[in-house]
Amino acid sequence: MSNHFPQLFSQIKLGSTTLKNRIVSTGHHTYLADREPGPELIAYHESRARGGAGLIISEIIAVHPSAGFSSKLLSFFDDSSIQAYRQLAEACHRHDCRIFAQLFHPGREVMSTADGFGAIAYAPSALPNERFHIMPKAMDIALIESIIDGYANCAKNLQQAGFDGVEIVGSHGYLPAQFLSPAVNQRNDDYGGDFDSRLKFTRDVITAIHQQAPGLTLGLRLSANDYEPEGVEEPLVTDICLALQAQLDYVSLVAGSSATLGASVHISPSMGFSAGYLGPISEQIRGKLDIPVIVTGRINQPQVAEQMISRGQADLCGMTRAMICDPEMPNKAQAGRYDDIRACIGCNQSCIGRAHKGLPISCIQNPQSGRELKFNGLQTAASSRRIVVVGAGPAGLKCAVVAASRGHAVTLYDKAPQPGGQALLAQLLPGREEFGGLVTNLMHELEAADIQLVTNCAVDSDMLQTLQADSIVLATGAQAYFPAAGSFDPERTIDYEDVLLKRCSIGTNVVVADWRGDWTGIGLAERLASDGCRVKLVVNAALAGEALQIYTRNYYLGRLYKLGVEVVTHARLYGSDGDCVYFQNTLTDEAIIFDTIDTLVLAMGQQADGQLEIELRAAGIDPLAIGDCVVPRTAEEAIFEGMQTAMNL
Ligand SMILES: Cc1cc2nc3c(=O)[nH]c(=O)nc-3n(C[C@H](O)[C@H](O)[C@H](O)COP(=O)(O)O)c2cc1C
Ligand code: SF4
Repeated sequence: MSNHFPQLFSQIKLGSTTLKNRIVSTGHHTYLADREPGPELIAYHESRARGGAGLIISEIIAVHPSAGFSSKLLSFFDDSSIQAYRQLAEACHRHDCRIFAQLFHPGREVMSTADGFGAIAYAPSALPNERFHIMPKAMDIALIESIIDGYANCAKNLQQAGFDGVEIVGSHGYLPAQFLSPAVNQRNDDYGGDFDSRLKFTRDVITAIHQQAPGLTLGLRLSANDYEPEGVEEPLVTDICLALQAQLDYVSLVAGSSATLGASVHISPSMGFSAGYLGPISEQIRGKLDIPVIVTGRINQPQVAEQMISRGQADLCGMTRAMICDPEMPNKAQAGRYDDIRACIGCNQSCIGRAHKGLPISCIQNPQSGRELKFNGLQTAASSRRIVVVGAGPAGLKCAVVAASRGHAVTLYDKAPQPGGQALLAQLLPGREEFGGLVTNLMHELEAADIQLVTNCAVDSDMLQTLQADSIVLATGAQAYFPAAGSFDPERTIDYEDVLLKRCSIGTNVVVADWRGDWTGIGLAERLASDGCRVKLVVNAALAGEALQIYTRNYYLGRLYKLGVEVVTHARLYGSDGDCVYFQNTLTDEAIIFDTIDTLVLAMGQQADGQLEIELRAAGIDPLAIGDCVVPRTAEEAIFEGMQTAMNL
């Protein structure tokens, strides 16, 4: 037991499985493996096991050939993959970490098909899915029975491979949830109709698993509220748990559903949701049950988890992105090294954002995540060298930290009074305050390393030449881009930095012109509308927030709609004149004119600050350039390049 978090680091039993602590890495689709675990997936989970997780629930495993969900999907239909799964189990067991697997069938929730063809999806009833626009085929009894066998067969295979338990994914609107939902299940046979009939599918799956894999720990994941229209809410979920708990070893609670854009934001809730936001609903359900409850959703710090367990909101806490971001979080928490924990900020960009692009997951703050085999620990440099890094935004900070950790003597300069670069601006957007956490985390890493930080210091080429560094790394970032083409009324046109830093007065009728579709335009629109402005968000894209991960985008877009912001898409900024702002439709080139506009706010992206690089090269010095000063992108590329460059110094 830990003195620091006595609840979190106390043992608990789930069925026949004893866990050393209550920190769970819940099932998450990594896109690191296809069909069966491979070296990348094993290294990924072993890193979290080594970092102190009590339980790893590995990602969804298709239980049946009809369970197509996306590309790169694990399956386990026969025993040919036992060895691959065994290696994964053994990798976790080496670190006294238990491992369960998620048994999965998506029903009608098919995200994409492996062959790119339209999905043939099966569901309890032929009712459309709103998010993926899929009209499924209603399952016949033979298919239902075959799928039930598939769950049991997969559980048996996993037991043979040495897994400690399995979890039925009945959350997020997937197949068991479709059977359980009165709105989605309209069958009138044994598997539909009243509560008991809708429960039959899940009950049959549970019974079959017990028969085929006796003694294997068994849990059920459910959405405590699916947030769908006419959806499943807490009272019904409690009844489901009460009806099934005698056959289960635990229940794992989340929220949301894959079926609608609004409900799916809960699958991986973004930073706008407060830490541990499902605690109260979980407490209500747990209070009525006799079996342990895992709750998951934005529990990004051990302090939050400890409090939730102490309050009786849960027995265990899913801390999934917390460990994508910092696999060592449990060990650090147990040792009381709170400041060393790199807290997840809930941006969704590189974890689920990458996964939804079919790419292996990673983390904007932790580029090693998902790349464990590639970046396997830091090598001490062959000799210590003098490194000067210019620019203390995310790229410069990460580069300085990694270089110093490798034994180099590092000096980091920034012209601003405070390190952080663009992240300091992003944190000023409403509901995005946690972007500041990215800087806080990097500053903790900086403080732990031996780095000389010099702020309020504008470095020029002459000064750099006198410093006689062995290597100069430029991370000078970018600044707001003001379009040169087009003419703008200077009295009424401002850029996003002016708004965020409150450097200007803003009228009542505002147009936000958004070129990049990132956090800036959508966030500014929210900020100005919250301040009482009438806002039009005019985007040069097919939808607002196009560059953002879909759950993040939809969560913040929902907030805009609530505030009455008018969103105009496919619009290219042309110019402004007095109180008129001109755009062109990007498909037809036709004019779009807004009049009586008091203020035009430009969110037109950034321009690289490459002047110092030009000056140094003119002086015959060959610096390394990283992050936005090469080409403006995001914190993900900045931190990745900072780390990678420092690894090669
Ligand atoms: C990259 C990614 C993939 C996910 N895939 C799954 C999945 O396969 N099965 C599942 O039940 N939940 C999945 N989730 C949801 C997580 O299990 C978890 O509920 C969610 O990340 C919220 O918890 P957190 O705030 O601790 O990260 C996924 C989440 C992420 C970030
Ligand atoms: S990418 Fe963002 S949300 Fe995902 S784990 Fe990293 S910090 Fe958390």
